[in-house]
Amino acid sequence: MSTTAPETAAAPRPERIAHAFVRDVALPGGAGTLALVTVDNGLDHTKPTTLGPGGLAELHTALVEQQRRALAGEIVAVGVTGKPYYLAAGADLTAVTAISGEADARRVAAAGHRTYRLLGEMGVPTFAYVNGAALGGGLELALHCTYRTVGADVGALALPEAFLGLVPGWGGCYLLPHLIGVRRALEVILTRPLAGNRMTKAAEALELGVVDAVFHPADFLEQSLVWTADVLAGRVTPVRGEIESQEEWDAVVEAARAQLDLRLHGAKTAPYRALDLVAAARTADRDSAFAAEDDALAELIMSDQLRAGLYAFDLTSRRARTPAGAPPAELARPVRSVGIVGAGLMAGQLAVLIARRLRVPVVMRDIDDARVAAGLAGIRAQVERQAAKGRMSADEANRVLASISVSTDLSTLAGADLVIEAVTEVLALKQRVFAELEGVIADDAVLATNTSALSVTAMSAHLRHPERVVGIHFFNPVAQMPLIEVVRTASSTDAAVATAFALAKQLGKTAVGVADRPGFVVNRLLLRLLAEVAAAVEGGTPVRTADVALRPLGLPMGPFALIQLVGLPVALHVLSALHDELGARYPLSPGLERLAAQGRRLVPEPDGRGAELEVDPAIQDAFDAPGEPSGATALDEAGVLDAVLVGLTEEIGLMLDEGVVASPDQIDLCMILGANWPLHLGGISPYLDRAGYSERVLGRRLLPRGVADVPAAP
Ligand SMILES: NC(=O)c1ccc[n+]([C@@H]2O[C@H](COP(=O)([O-])OP(=O)(O)OC[C@H]3O[C@@H](n4cnc5c(N)ncnc54)[C@H](O)[C@@H]3O)[C@@H](O)[C@H]2O)c1
Repeated sequence: MSTTAPETAAAPRPERIAHAFVRDVALPGGAGTLALVTVDNGLDHTKPTTLGPGGLAELHTALVEQQRRALAGEIVAVGVTGKPYYLAAGADLTAVTAISGEADARRVAAAGHRTYRLLGEMGVPTFAYVNGAALGGGLELALHCTYRTVGADVGALALPEAFLGLVPGWGGCYLLPHLIGVRRALEVILTRPLAGNRMTKAAEALELGVVDAVFHPADFLEQSLVWTADVLAGRVTPVRGEIESQEEWDAVVEAARAQLDLRLHGAKTAPYRALDLVAAARTADRDSAFAAEDDALAELIMSDQLRAGLYAFDLTSRRARTPAGAPPAELARPVRSVGIVGAGLMAGQLAVLIARRLRVPVVMRDIDDARVAAGLAGIRAQVERQAAKGRMSADEANRVLASISVSTDLSTLAGADLVIEAVTEVLALKQRVFAELEGVIADDAVLATNTSALSVTAMSAHLRHPERVVGIHFFNPVAQMPLIEVVRTASSTDAAVATAFALAKQLGKTAVGVADRPGFVVNRLLLRLLAEVAAAVEGGTPVRTADVALRPLGLPMGPFALIQLVGLPVALHVLSALHDELGARYPLSPGLERLAAQGRRLVPEPDGRGAELEVDPAIQDAFDAPGEPSGATALDEAGVLDAVLVGLTEEIGLMLDEGVVASPDQIDLCMILGANWPLHLGGISPYLDRAGYSERVLGRRLLPRGVADVPAAP
């Protein structure tokens, strides 16, 4: 099953019925008649075909009829294909979110098997002609066929269920490992979905054995039919690899389980359920394997984790396209050239992204020749790296480099329509930089800051034109992180804010409008989490206990690895800014400061084998050093987790009261896209609701019941 997002998790839209059109095709060379079934919802290519109860019923009727015809000798084969660009995008997830009881969930699961399995029980060979995206149940439809061809331009073949919180339960967990072996099947069922829902392209699908042949899109169906005739005549025999021995199968499954544990520590149910199904697939018969898939689907469909996953997926894929609170887009100023102040880590990355996507001249300014030269060298290295990886052509690399200039001369920024400052995170310095800029840039140029946590209002307080100042907070690494927090002050004009939103859109990022409060959304919450962990350690909790305490959440990394990634000095700097602004909820950590002063790492260097970065136990000494008692107490793992969740809930409550964002879903969007927080937590609010923290700490839920969890029984 899977994967087109519901309109909203709470308000399902009616199913777009997938019709099954059947026509007879005379195979080349007099090979006989093939019944070609086209799955098509009759809508344009922006609305992919998905399969809900109505569509499955129509497909079932069509396939039963072909089965009769096959038995009667009227057809020699059955083919299945889709409308342009899509074979099918899986189950209609809107229908899934509307299900409110396990018996209904089981019926949906079983309806898929009941229909699809006819393709394996047709009495004649069946062929899937994968002419476009085949996602989830779309790909499973193809897997039930005897053979598969794919168009060379197809870029989206996937079983994304484990990513969303489901299993490929319309046959995928049984059929795929039998087709391509367990090692490759787990690559498609687990590894790719959990690596940010990576899609498989046509050529890779051939390599993996998921499909048997690739044909040019121009005459894809004709070529597929010629190939079909060749297969039927025995002129072509698709090569299928041997599947692994039981011993090897078990070893692959156990290795995959160890990888899952390393990554998720059991936090997300669906990938483990998928692995169990694949583990059993080698010896299971078809009926019991399909029944086990039904069981898994029924259980997962009725789980809060899936509901949170669908809410989060919808939030990041569909709803994010219309940013909440953005001024009308037409108010944005045209940006024909961009100035960047600073040539450091963030500035260099911004320059490359902007030059690349906006295709406008970018002028950078730093304070001395050495920094200018270092900045330029960094930009060259970035561009060369991207070119070497094939992400940028040589021409594009030359164009990007030619459009970026670096100087120590402030007046080079004079002509910019938008200037972004990315200088060292010190308020007085940023105030000075803005004041200097006002002297050289046009009165209507937009001034932006990339500050992580400082007050944009304070930064612009002494300017002649504070109304043109806006925060555009990018995340590191800039090329990869999809979020931008657009910070609006009380003085910011709609034009300045609209320019920031327009920039985000042109850069292919998701923008979330936030109020000018310390740390905005992502840093405020991440630092609150780290502050709770650091406080626990200062109070005598062993570093190892604090490090593993958050594992039940399945976050992308442990707290010490996160500090290491951000950089300890940077993390301490932001912590101290938040301590100054928000007070005792963000206590300083003498132990972390000692470690920073000693220049020590918190986690060992990565070993290159992808093992999780755990805290280096040797750093315990920095916290055991004599000093002022912190007032905090030593906690066990459960205590640390509880303190962190209470802290996050309290902070979210305050952020909503302060109007940092208008609603909790905006916080979730920020945490998913700006901090890689997992879909099964729904970002964070759905988790705090279902774990009881919002009721306990705030006395109310963050989201209405049923939006990101299973609705209450009627
Ligand atoms: N590093 C991150 O992960 C990250 C992420 C998001 C936002 N930020 C924010 O981006 C900003 C820059 O951070 P960074 O990590 O790139 O710092 P950095 O230290 O790498 O670069 C800062 C640069 O600013 C230059 N500079 C100082 N005064 C200047 C002046 N008057 N005119 C021109 N240049 C001047 C410095 O010489 C230096 O090259 C900070 O506000 C930081 O909070 C950083």
